[in-house]
Amino acid sequence: PSRPLIDSHGRTISYLRISVTDRCDFRCVYCMSEDMVFLPKKDVLSFEEVETIASAFIARGTTKIRLTGGEPLVRRDIMELVKCLGSRIGQGLEELTITTNGSQLAKHAEGLFAAGVRRINVSLDTLDPQRFNAITRRDRFSDVMSGIDAAQAAGLALKINMVAMRGVNDDEIEPMMAWAHGRGLGLTLIEGMPLGEVGIDRVESYLPLRELHERLSRRYTLTRLDKRTGGPARYVHVAETGGVLGFITPMSHNFCESCNRVRLTATGQLFLCLGQDDQVNLRDAWREGGPAGLDAALDHAMRIKPKGHDFVLDRSRPEPAVARHMSVTGG
Ligand code: GTP
Ligand code: 5AD
Ligand code: SF4
Repeated sequence: PSRPLIDSHGRTISYLRISVTDRCDFRCVYCMSEDMVFLPKKDVLSFEEVETIASAFIARGTTKIRLTGGEPLVRRDIMELVKCLGSRIGQGLEELTITTNGSQLAKHAEGLFAAGVRRINVSLDTLDPQRFNAITRRDRFSDVMSGIDAAQAAGLALKINMVAMRGVNDDEIEPMMAWAHGRGLGLTLIEGMPLGEVGIDRVESYLPLRELHERLSRRYTLTRLDKRTGGPARYVHVAETGGVLGFITPMSHNFCESCNRVRLTATGQLFLCLGQDDQVNLRDAWREGGPAGLDAALDHAMRIKPKGHDFVLDRSRPEPAVARHMSVTGG
């Protein structure tokens, strides 16, 4: 690219996460409250606007785009956007992918593959249907399982994302790993982050993955892998299962130093860090200034991208680190 996106801390930004909707058909307890108020639909970018902004990023060196939500597959015109962005693969864009809760995956798996998607991440925190209902507050376990089956049948590589929570699903980590690795899926464990008021006790449910890594390394032979996916996970190979296990540790070991990403919301705000409020309005930049306005806004974004988040979990600071929910920024 002629002018790659490099921020004021010297980090090259090559990964754009696009939240295509803040809506979701689940209400995971760590992510949302039951009575979430969603953005008015009229404020949501059209898929043409998303494509325009994505193109500006690709022209400036973005090689990886991930569609997120909320739940990206609940957006009605989602497959049009996927096809459109998919046609850019090989022309600067190297990877188009998606993070989904799996509820509608059965319907879309083949379309995703046909559009050029090769690898997707599916969120699943438990293998127990009752527990699934309690965590997501929706009775959709079997839909997610069918979605995973369909995605594998369509030829997509899958990684399961599991938010590891003490007292909620920490007894399922080994079974989840056996299940995932047994069927050729990756498993990545994530530390819960204090984003948005949701009504669960995040201090109590916090499970430091460093501790878990120790617990697992007593039972399994874990070999560190240098392979990275462009995301924040660190991976190990598990000799006993033959599979790959990832750890995402924003709380116990932050990875901001190597940050390569920014996040576009469904309304066109570019958030420069998951854990900070710094943002640039790309929708207005485009509407008011066209391509040059958009380019200038990206330059401005690189100047103000913060060094990192400062998430803390502390009883004396009960309010979340950032007020907006994960479903707005897209994780
Ligand atoms: P891969 O391409 O497979 O590496 O995916 P990814 O980890 O980039 O994306 P995914 O949507 O699967 O995200 C998994 C988890 O990582 C989510 O909980 C995200 O919120 C979290 N995550 C991704 N990037 C960041 C980041 O920059 N900071 C923090 N704190 N968390 C992040
Ligand atoms: N902390 C950590 N992970 C979260 N996710 C949603 N909310 C949180 C949170 N507060 C996860 C979802 C999904 C991914 C995009 O982010 O489970 O796997
Ligand atoms: Fe929906 Fe994902 Fe949030 Fe769960 S974590 S409520 S699936 S956006």
